[in-house]
Amino acid sequence: MLLKTPLAILSALVTVALAQVPPISLSGDTAVHDPTLCKDKNGKYFVFATAPGIAIRTSTDRITWTFEGAMWPNGAPWTDAYTGQSNANLWAPECHYTGSEFLVWYAASTGSLNSAIFLAKSSTGAPGSFTNLGLVTSTSTANDYNAIDPSVLIENGTWNFALGSYYTGIKYMTLDPSTGIASNSSVTSLARRFAADGAVEGSTIYKYGSYYYLFTSWDMCCHGTSSTYNIRVGRSSTVNGGYVDKSGVALTSGGGTLVLGSHGNIIGPGGQFVYTDNDGPILVYHYYTPYGSRLGINHLNFSSGWPVVV
Ligand SMILES: *[C@@H]1O[C@H](CO)[C@@H](O)[C@H](O)[C@H]1NC(C)=O
Ligand SMILES: *[C@@H]1O[C@H](CO)[C@@H](O)[C@H](O)[C@H]1NC(C)=O
Ligand SMILES: *[C@@H]1O[C@H](CO)[C@@H](O)[C@H](O)[C@H]1NC(C)=O
Repeated sequence: MLLKTPLAILSALVTVALAQVPPISLSGDTAVHDPTLCKDKNGKYFVFATAPGIAIRTSTDRITWTFEGAMWPNGAPWTDAYTGQSNANLWAPECHYTGSEFLVWYAASTGSLNSAIFLAKSSTGAPGSFTNLGLVTSTSTANDYNAIDPSVLIENGTWNFALGSYYTGIKYMTLDPSTGIASNSSVTSLARRFAADGAVEGSTIYKYGSYYYLFTSWDMCCHGTSSTYNIRVGRSSTVNGGYVDKSGVALTSGGGTLVLGSHGNIIGPGGQFVYTDNDGPILVYHYYTPYGSRLGINHLNFSSGWPVVV
């Protein structure tokens, strides 16, 4: 038998505890899927999430959430060609507040390659207040990646955009800063899996210190408590490629360090977004319970150079 010193036992317990940090306790309506978060100039929080017309929830304290309604309460007919239905679920929005306006990118798809990402804006973020700014980029069966799950990082006037995917993985392009629309459809690759049917999607690019971090969701979403979604990360000193995981494996070769997986009653965490709030970086995600998906929020600690859920 292996004899452990009390210190080794303690450090083993700490390791387990770090991997199993529960979400911050939230209340109100938190039944979200694929959340993104922004904060307006009055400090009010908005979470946009997958739903018919994209669901909007708000909070004044980031703890208690209220369902407000849909971005498009009467449907979004311009998306119907990509969902094959009227007022179907629109997927995985990405929100940015510019100081005076909400910009929200969101996807229309059935999971096939016939997919599109659209952009909308609003000065209030209220249901029904959004203006359709049109098609950002789209894919068809002629493409080898899928135009879903938008992520935007605006830095020094460059609007970096990640999207995808399954198929050949997560792609990068830039958006025209004057429109928020892709200037052209040329892409570079950020991450790809060769295992698990290429199950990598829901990317988020986040800058911390001198690194760009690419968070992705691996494996299977959307199967209730059978979901196997888990949140992975790699980092790079350049935004448009070169991401490696903690072991040095390129994300384009299937690399990805686990940030958060299923633990206890928290099943299939994924669909994540990372936001810099006044109290530091937070990880915003969904997870499953027997009653449906729920909003998860945790702090992230980057002091080791890699994000740790705390
Ligand atoms: C953005 O601008 C800041 C300040 O000028 C600079 O330190 C940083 O390197 C720039 N980042 C990029 C990606 O150009
Ligand atoms: C297409 O977009 C890329 C960035 O995604 C840019 O580097 C390239 O110059 C653009 N090409 C054209 C022809 O505009
Ligand atoms: C981040 O983690 C390090 C190492 O555990 C700790 O020393 C530091 O206080 C933490 N930072 C914050 C802001 O909690």
